[in-house]
Amino acid sequence: MSSHTAALLKHKGALAVASRPTPAPGPDEVLVAVRAVALNPIDHIQRGTLFFVPVLPAVLGCDVAGVIVACGANVSSSLGLAVGTRVCAFASSYYQEGSPDHGAFQSLVLVQKETVAPLPAGISFEHGAMVPVAALTAFTAWPILGISIATRHAPGTGPAVLIWGAASSVGTYAVQTAKLLGLTVYATASPHNHAYIKSLGARAVFDYHAADAVAQIAAAVKADGVSMSLAHAVVPGSLQPVLDVLHQTRGAQHARVAHSPPLPEDMPTPADTTVTFNLPSFDKAERNAHFHEVFHEQLKPALENGSLVPSPAAQIEGGGLSGLDAALDKLQAGVSGKKLVLAL
Ligand SMILES: NC(=O)c1ccc[n+]([C@@H]2O[C@H](COP(=O)([O-])OP(=O)(O)OC[C@H]3O[C@@H](n4cnc5c(N)ncnc54)[C@H](OP(=O)(O)O)[C@@H]3O)[C@@H](O)[C@H]2O)c1
Repeated sequence: MSSHTAALLKHKGALAVASRPTPAPGPDEVLVAVRAVALNPIDHIQRGTLFFVPVLPAVLGCDVAGVIVACGANVSSSLGLAVGTRVCAFASSYYQEGSPDHGAFQSLVLVQKETVAPLPAGISFEHGAMVPVAALTAFTAWPILGISIATRHAPGTGPAVLIWGAASSVGTYAVQTAKLLGLTVYATASPHNHAYIKSLGARAVFDYHAADAVAQIAAAVKADGVSMSLAHAVVPGSLQPVLDVLHQTRGAQHARVAHSPPLPEDMPTPADTTVTFNLPSFDKAERNAHFHEVFHEQLKPALENGSLVPSPAAQIEGGGLSGLDAALDKLQAGVSGKKLVLAL
């Protein structure tokens, strides 16, 4: 059996580069030679706490870009996937019982066919790796808010939505996908990120550090003559201000919030608002259908025609697999409008 290089989590706290056996793809999988990985908060959380890590040694990581080197029997070229195709992909180890074959931080990774999108020639592997998880999370919020992902309103004519934490990785795709669907976006970010968030499609952006941020947003929505009953609470700590805004802007409508971080234990539960953890279905068939819709029906054409671009700005870290621990430390310390990426 051949082998390849991986960053292994053997115990809590640090990764170690080592060799591991290279798997063959199952019928509905592809094997990808990884050229770049991007980092997500869950990666340093899992490294530090073993949260949702049922198997050790584990291979962490979820975002990859690379080249397909082997395809399973059911992977049809009608998906645009074949040996040699440049792709970006969500490495879905935590939907595969923690299988280390399906973690991103290694030179060869197994990926289910539903979570792979071809990468257009104009997008580098480093930029491609920035897309999968954050864009998936942004798309997943729309059905939770009662809006089909296939919705296409004329630009800016759709319902108003509040995106709290728009300069985060997920937040930038929340803004971009809202624009794709034709929704009207009110967003929050630090002032140095406002121009960028507007360039992605937000109608108005507010500084969440301001003591009166909630009042500012509510006043702007009212001045625009719209009601707003939908929100994506993207970052930890955003639920209460989001509820406070919607309380003032929802009119007679029941409000809905998609919440991307784990729900706080002491979560407020107002009767006029439904708050839902933003996660794909626990039902495997439903989840895979959702993944297929996101990667093959939405991301593939949107990346090709430029209606969705890799975001936010890439911050390329060095060292390949050996550089992962230092890069994860940087992510844990906090980033602003940046996505940390490593080339392998
Ligand atoms: N449910 C899921 O499946 C799923 C998937 C992926 C991620 N997540 C979760 O989603 C969250 C975002 O992940 P990410 O990778 O997008 O994060 P990230 O890029 O690391 O977020 C950093 C950004 O958060 C913004 N921010 C921090 N505190 C804020 C606040 N109080 N109000 C508004 N913005 C604030 C900062 O904006 P400024 O620089 O403008 O200050 C910063 O740019 C995390 O909690 C992550 O665990 C969930």
